[in-house]
Amino acid sequence: MKAFILDRYKKNGALRLGEMPEPTVRDDDVLVEIHAAGLNPLDSKIRDGEFKLILPYRPPFILGHDVAGRVVRVGSNVRRFKPDDEVYARPRDGQIGAFAEFIAVNEADLALKPQNLGMEEAASIPLVGLTAWQALVERAGLRKGQKVLIHAGSGGVGTFAIQLAKHLGATVATTTSTANVDLVRSLGADVVIDYKKEDFEKVLSGYDVVLNSLDGDTLQKSLKVLKPGGKLISISGPPDPGFAREQGLNWLLQQILRLLSFGIRRKAKARGVGYSFLYMRANGGQLSQLTSLIEAGIIRPVMDRVVPFEATNEAMAYLETGRSKGKVVIKLR
Ligand SMILES: NC(=O)c1ccc[n+]([C@@H]2O[C@H](COP(=O)([O-])OP(=O)(O)OC[C@H]3O[C@@H](n4cnc5c(N)ncnc54)[C@H](OP(=O)(O)O)[C@@H]3O)[C@@H](O)[C@H]2O)c1
Repeated sequence: MKAFILDRYKKNGALRLGEMPEPTVRDDDVLVEIHAAGLNPLDSKIRDGEFKLILPYRPPFILGHDVAGRVVRVGSNVRRFKPDDEVYARPRDGQIGAFAEFIAVNEADLALKPQNLGMEEAASIPLVGLTAWQALVERAGLRKGQKVLIHAGSGGVGTFAIQLAKHLGATVATTTSTANVDLVRSLGADVVIDYKKEDFEKVLSGYDVVLNSLDGDTLQKSLKVLKPGGKLISISGPPDPGFAREQGLNWLLQQILRLLSFGIRRKAKARGVGYSFLYMRANGGQLSQLTSLIEAGIIRPVMDRVVPFEATNEAMAYLETGRSKGKVVIKLR
C-alpha cells in the first residue's frame, strides 16, 4: 500500500511516499481503508525526534494519528464493528500510521463516525477532541458556573475545547490574535483576549481552570489568573512525574521529568493551585460520546484546509507555521 514513511528522525525532514506492506490484523483489530487523515503537531514532533525517548518508534514507520475511513474486515475478537462501517479513531501509540491507504486499529480505540460529517471533517476530530475531553471532563471536572481559560482558541485543540467547555456550562475565556477574534466568538467564547493588544494575565482573575497549549512563559503567567484551588493543565509541557508513571518510563527518565517540571510545580504549590501535564490517550468509548455531541449539533469541526494525500509534507509544513485555524486534513479517497 502507498504510505508516507519516516526513514530516519530529522528536524523538518521530508517523509517519503513509498510502498509498505498492508498492516497485520490481530484478533482485536479492525482493518480500516483510510479516506482522510488529520494532521497534528505531534506528527512533526515525532519526525523531529523530540519524542524518541518516550515513544521509541523504530524507522522506517508510518506517521499519522487521526483517521476516518471504512471497515474492510475485522479480527476474530471484534464484536462492535463490521465491514463497511464508517469509523474514525486516534489509534493508540505503537499502532499509529494514518498517512497510508490502510491501518489496523484496535477495536477499543475506534468509534462510528458522526453521520452528519464527511470523512475529511471526521478525520479532524479524534486527537483534539479526546484531548479536550480528557483535559476538561476527566482531569478538570469542569462544571456549570466555573470559569476556564483556553489558550490558543483558534487552533485544533482550542476550537474544540471552547465548544466543549461551553457545553459543560462554563464561562470561557480564550487567547487569540486579532485575525481570529470573530472565529473564537462564533464558537462561543465569552471573553476574548487579543494577545496582540492585551496581556491575558492582567485582564483575567479568579479562574478555576487553565488549559495551556503554549510556551513556558504563558504557562508561568497562567498561574496568576487561577484562584486558590484552581487547576493548571498543560498539554505542551513540561511533563510531570504523574505522566512518567503513567507511561511506565524508567527511573532515570522519571527523575528527568521530575526536574523539568520542578519549577512550575513549586510555583503552583506556592499559589495553592495544582499543576499537571496531560498526554492524551486513545479511547473509543469517549470518542463515541463525542460522536453524540457532534450529531446533536453541539460541537462542529473547524477546518482550515483539506489537501490531497500527495501534499502531506507541504501540509505538515503549513501546520508547523503555527498559524492554522482549526484543522488541516489530507484526503486519500
Ligand atoms: N499533550 C497532548 O496530549 C496534546 C494533544 C494535542 C495537542 N498538544 C499540543 O498542543 C499544542 C497545540 O496543538 P494544536 O493542535 O491546537 O495546534 P495548532 O492547531 O497548530 O495551533 C495553531 C493555533 O495556535 C494559535 N496560537 C499560536 N500562538 C499563539 C499565542 N501566543 N496565543 C494564542 N494563540 C496562539 C494560532 O492562532 P493565531 O494565528 O491567532 O496566533 C493558531 O490558530 C501543540 O504543541 C501540540 O503538540 C498536546
